[in-house]
Amino acid sequence: MTGAIFILSGAGLSAESGLRTFRAADGLWEDHRVEDVATPEAFERDPDLVQRFYNERRKQAGKAAPNAAHKALARLQKNHSDPVYLVTQNVDDLLERGGADQVIHMHGGVMDALCAACAHRWPAPDVMQVSDPCPSCGAPKTRPDIVWFGEIPYHMDIIQDALEDSDLFVSIGTSGTVYPAAGFGQMARQLGIRTLELNLEASNAPFDEVIEGRASEIVPAWVEKILAPSK
Ligand code: APR
Repeated sequence: MTGAIFILSGAGLSAESGLRTFRAADGLWEDHRVEDVATPEAFERDPDLVQRFYNERRKQAGKAAPNAAHKALARLQKNHSDPVYLVTQNVDDLLERGGADQVIHMHGGVMDALCAACAHRWPAPDVMQVSDPCPSCGAPKTRPDIVWFGEIPYHMDIIQDALEDSDLFVSIGTSGTVYPAAGFGQMARQLGIRTLELNLEASNAPFDEVIEGRASEIVPAWVEKILAPSK
C-alpha cells in the first residue's frame, strides 16, 4: 500500500517534449543570464526584453506536446486509490494537457498574464506587452504570471499540507538547486516520509532510492508498478 504521493517535478519532466532545462552545460537560459530576464528588477529595468523572453517561452511551450511521463503522472493521479499531489516548478501546461486535473504550479504559468497593479490573472495573448491593459482594472502593467527570483512561490500552505499528508515523496527531473522546492525532500525526510528520485542523473540530495534514466521511460515504468496492485 503506497498511500498518498507527493510529486515534485522540474524541467527534466518536459525536456523530452523539447523544452530546454535551465541548468544545461552553458549555464544560460536561452542565451540570457537569469538576472537579466527572471527577476522583478529586470522587469523594472527592461520590460520589453523580459516580455520578449517569455513570449518566446510561451510560443515554445504552446508548440510542445506532453510526453509519456506527463501522461503517466496524469494516469497515476486519476487511478491511484489515495491522493496524488502534483506539485511542479514548471511553468508549461504539459501535465494538464497530458490529462492531469489538478496541478499545483508553484512557479506560476507562462500561459497566463498577471496584472502587476491589481493581481488579476487572465489567459496570456500570444504576444504580451507591458502596455496591454488589465481586463479588470485597466492598468497598463501586464507581466507574465511567473514567480521570479526574489518572489515568493505560490501555494506554499497547500504544499505544506500536502507534504504532511503524504506517505511517499517523489522528485522528478529537478536539479534541486532552487529553494524552497530544493528543501522539500529534506522536509519529507524529517516528517518520516520515504523519498524517491527519478532523474536523468542523480542530484546531490539524499534520497532513500534513486532511479536514473529518461523521464519518458522511467516515470511510466514506475507508475505502472504503483498502479499494478490495484488493477
Ligand atoms: N529525464 C529526466 N530528467 C532529466 C531529463 C530527462 N530527459 N533531462 C534533464 N533532466 C534532469 C537533469 O538531470 C536535472 O537534474 O532535469 C533536471 C533539470 O534541472 P534544472 O535545469 O535545474 O531545472 P529545475 O530543477 O526545474 O529548475 C528549478 O529553477 O530557474 C528556476 O524557476 C526555474 O523552475 C525552475 C527552477
